[in-house]
Amino acid sequence: MCGIVGYVGVKNASPILIEALKKLEYRGYDSAGIAVLNNDELLVRKAKGALKFLQEKIAKEIIRGSCGIGHTRWATHGEPSDENSHPHTDVSGSIAVVHNGIIENYSILKQKLQGKGITFKSETDTEVIAHLVHYYYDGNLLHAVAKALNQLQGSYALAVICKDSPDTIVCARKDSPLVIGQGNGEQFLASDVPALLEHTRTVFYLNDNELALIKKEGISFFNEELEPIEKTAEHVNWDLSAAEKDGFEHFMLKEIYEQPQSLLQTLRPRIVTGDDGLKSVNLDEIGIDQRYAQTPRVIITACGTAYHAGLAAKYAIEHFARIPVDVDIASEYRYRSPILNPADVFIIISQSGETADTLAAMRMAKKAGARIIAITNVAGSTLAREADAVLFTLAGPEIAVASTKAFTSQLMCVYLVALKFAQLKGTLTKEELHKYIEELEALPAKAQELLQNKEIIQRFAAKTFNKKKVFFMGRLADYPISMESALKLKEISYTHSESFAAGELKHGPIALVDTDTLVVAVCTQSKLFDKMDSNIKEVKARGATVMCITYQDESYFNKTADATVTIPRTYDELTPMLSVIPAQLFAYYCAVQRSLDPDKPRNLAKSVTVE
Ligand code: M6R
Repeated sequence: MCGIVGYVGVKNASPILIEALKKLEYRGYDSAGIAVLNNDELLVRKAKGALKFLQEKIAKEIIRGSCGIGHTRWATHGEPSDENSHPHTDVSGSIAVVHNGIIENYSILKQKLQGKGITFKSETDTEVIAHLVHYYYDGNLLHAVAKALNQLQGSYALAVICKDSPDTIVCARKDSPLVIGQGNGEQFLASDVPALLEHTRTVFYLNDNELALIKKEGISFFNEELEPIEKTAEHVNWDLSAAEKDGFEHFMLKEIYEQPQSLLQTLRPRIVTGDDGLKSVNLDEIGIDQRYAQTPRVIITACGTAYHAGLAAKYAIEHFARIPVDVDIASEYRYRSPILNPADVFIIISQSGETADTLAAMRMAKKAGARIIAITNVAGSTLAREADAVLFTLAGPEIAVASTKAFTSQLMCVYLVALKFAQLKGTLTKEELHKYIEELEALPAKAQELLQNKEIIQRFAAKTFNKKKVFFMGRLADYPISMESALKLKEISYTHSESFAAGELKHGPIALVDTDTLVVAVCTQSKLFDKMDSNIKEVKARGATVMCITYQDESYFNKTADATVTIPRTYDELTPMLSVIPAQLFAYYCAVQRSLDPDKPRNLAKSVTVE
């Protein structure tokens, strides 16, 4: 996730901006930049990579001025590079913009602006904002920004400065946080509280569709009609480390709680509504169009959690689009003798885009002539650079070693691919497709709702965290989620946990079941409820304790399970994006019960760049 900072006052702005950007480094970034107003000059410095490279540039070409904005970028549109780094400027070089979020209609706006003779310097969505503000600028920066905002679809937190409006920052937000810090004769601005804490604890949080005009003497707030509004200052009483985690005890918990937002970010730019009012999936960014209607087979390779997203993809693509899918663990794929046909669609999934085995599998398939589609969270990663096309998960940086929000965003991506294939092949009618898309759009709010069950899971973890063995079982879409749940639990709580397709119970695993066993039954596949119920009875008869994850309006398992954790009702095919969340919380609370740090599990690294 990108970071925004701003300063207006009497001091030299650039060191203040750099220090503030350092406080946002924990969010992850791949480039940084600042813009400072100095008399009638707008000075911009940008650098790809760590903040120290930006600092080196500033040390060589010193910039002075007491009003400026800064940004750390987590690339989404365009590679990490100096040109794509923020701030972005307009054609006249007098307006600079920093932006977090995604402008969904940027390509239409870009075409219109290019039609007016404007040349773009970057590949970003943000640059359109700078040109739009310039287009509307008639001497009043606030008015120009408000008019530009009227043209934007998507999400933004942004800050704008203009050399004709000295000592002034205009900022605005929609669906992306922005906080203004009040000082004495100086004001601060940031996308996240840690960047302000060194200077002030008196803050104003902007709400969606609000704007602020920030001058060193004071701050004025406006609604989207530019009517002045009153806002009440709040006092921040967190310390810096709590602030970085937004008040959550661990990054993992924070990231679990970010899933409603990250799911939305993944989905929203890929949905279009036709003239008939029906929604469909647009994956032009990876070139999946009518030519792919005849795809004979999809091959997916990945490791760990990303592999589980691949398994969920198999169920979804085969179900919705009727295309056979092979899913492989990358470390196996790279050493066996796989059979590849040129018409196969080859998908590689990796949160980091740097996993050694996954990259080796990709290179091998590429050498054999496959066209590679990557699903990754990291722009500029090796996978993103070497793949032929990239579907970014847009989950924002994931800091905890145990993957949570990146996984659900990977799931959202593979469901979009499945529905896109169904759309191309006509295996779903337009109306059916619309219905499933509407439900995908409802999932972020449902994820938010189920997070309110956290106390039930916390209490259950407190009772069961000492179990010697934990088995997860499920059928169909619940099976990959059982696998992911077992991995999460073993990774961070060091509990011996395994998963199996519930139908396999009698073929071996039941021999291990005893009174020291917890079985988590994932039960969201209605047509197989009776089978799951029998499996639950079988393990209970051997003394196991059973927790069941099912729908909140479902009573099928009330009599058999010892505890039930629920998710809101959705289509059975779409449950993975919800049903994994209780399991993530369960793993988290088991680790906390065992006094372990879930963010730093022993022996594990966030990016496995060696074999
Ligand atoms: O970055 P990748 O998605 O390629 O990583 C693959 C695995 O190493 C990763 O998913 C690992 O299993 C995580 N620690 C899971 O939480």
